[in-house]
Amino acid sequence: MPPSGFSSSSPIRIRRAGRADLSAILRIERASFTDEAWDRELFAAYLHDHPELFIVATLDGRVVGYMITCVARHRVAEIASIAVHPESRGRRIARTMLLHTAIRLRVRGVRSWWLMVRPVNTPAIRLYRAAGFRRQAMVRGYYHDGGSAWRMAAAL
Ligand SMILES: CC(C)(COP(=O)(O)OP(=O)(O)OC[C@H]1O[C@@H](n2cnc3c(N)ncnc32)[C@H](O)[C@@H]1OP(=O)(O)O)[C@@H](O)C(=O)NCCC(=O)NCCS
Repeated sequence: MPPSGFSSSSPIRIRRAGRADLSAILRIERASFTDEAWDRELFAAYLHDHPELFIVATLDGRVVGYMITCVARHRVAEIASIAVHPESRGRRIARTMLLHTAIRLRVRGVRSWWLMVRPVNTPAIRLYRAAGFRRQAMVRGYYHDGGSAWRMAAAL
């Protein structure tokens, strides 16, 4: 029993994703992106092509979040996707995954990273701003439904 005044919240753990995580990742994906959720084949392709920076966050052994980052040429990286299960949001899980990935990228000599986000996605934009990202350009018609995106970027 923890002393009164202390909470006993479980630690967030970060590790590389594996094929055994795909079902949990798909559950997070479908709960996070209704119309534009990626399918199992696309996640499997990222796992195959970009395994080093495809990570999952776990709480009590359960996969509650994932993040995929791809390193391109010229020491630039792209956040391809990030999501946390709705039931586990607001516990700094996304922030922890960003921090973990930023450290790994710096070690690899990557100098900057970027991402695309819908202008209406306030939680994500705040998360990225808190991590140092700044809006660079509005890209019209970026999404399949014709929606625009902000391109955001940060130094590492
Ligand atoms: C965006 C998302 C990944 C954030 O995950 P999370 O684990 O809940 O975020 P964190 O708890 O790490 O929050 C970190 C910061 O993000 C911002 N943030 C997160 N959720 C927020 C919300 N609902 N409203 C406002 N700001 C929010 C805050 O600045 C927060 O910092 P704080 O804790 O000091 O307030 C999550 O909401 C999600 O999965 N959304 C659906 C998928 C998605 O939109 N992905 C991004 C596509 S570009």
